[in-house]
Amino acid sequence: MTELPLSGRKVLVTAGPTYEDIDPVRYLANRSSGKMGFAIADAAAAAGAEVQLVAGPTNCQQQHAGIVRSDVRSALQMLDAVLEKLQGVDVFIACAAVADYRPARLASEKIKKSGTRMQLELVRNPDILATVAALPQPPMTVGFAAETCQVEAHARRKLQQKNIHLIAANCVAGGQGFDRCDNRLLLLYADGRQQDLGLQSKSALADELIQVIATELRAGLLATATP
Ligand code: PMT
Repeated sequence: MTELPLSGRKVLVTAGPTYEDIDPVRYLANRSSGKMGFAIADAAAAAGAEVQLVAGPTNCQQQHAGIVRSDVRSALQMLDAVLEKLQGVDVFIACAAVADYRPARLASEKIKKSGTRMQLELVRNPDILATVAALPQPPMTVGFAAETCQVEAHARRKLQQKNIHLIAANCVAGGQGFDRCDNRLLLLYADGRQQDLGLQSKSALADELIQVIATELRAGLLATATP
């Protein structure tokens, strides 16, 4: 039997948005349907990997029966689920659109309207990808960058700040990227290489990304910005 590119490898993927509750009827979120992340989980499973998927609120369904899925709501829940599942993971792919901030306080009852303005105090959420990358023996770390301008420059900054191996940059200006069946990914590697995967269906992009990851793992070329 032919060996698949990720046979024997464990892959952990995050997908979808996180919801940060304000009160029982309102929340803050970043845009994300989950389609890109679910396509990656499916592609990794098709490539022979043991796949765990941590999904924020989404209507997506994984195609491969072997994928072990955990559903979460908030960034804090996503962080807990990721840290709990990291044991033995070879590759962590962070495709989720995690809310950077959450309300400082969760109101137990629906907040009533009063006046024409209201102020909401927000606190920073932990960075899940950077937390994983900072572990003493991190897996290969693959991030995404959703940008509306200067896509390459902003993505490269994130690659360096989060100290990860690879980042897939996508432009989300003008209706691109979110909740569509296609996307365009520019891959930026920590060692300076880059590769434009072009505009394709999310499933074709996911297949290509998984091939890239398998090649990097085989070659052991896992440089980060600060080794
Ligand atoms: O879900 P779709 O509708 O198919 O759309 C796909 C997508 C555009 C959402 C996806 O391709 C994408 O770009 N996902 C990342 C979106 C994002 O929030 O990027 P960011 O630039 O804010 O974050 C950079 C990286 O850090 C990401 O890998 C993110 O998962 C991670 N991160 C960010 C904040 C945080 N608190 N924790 C994190 O792990």
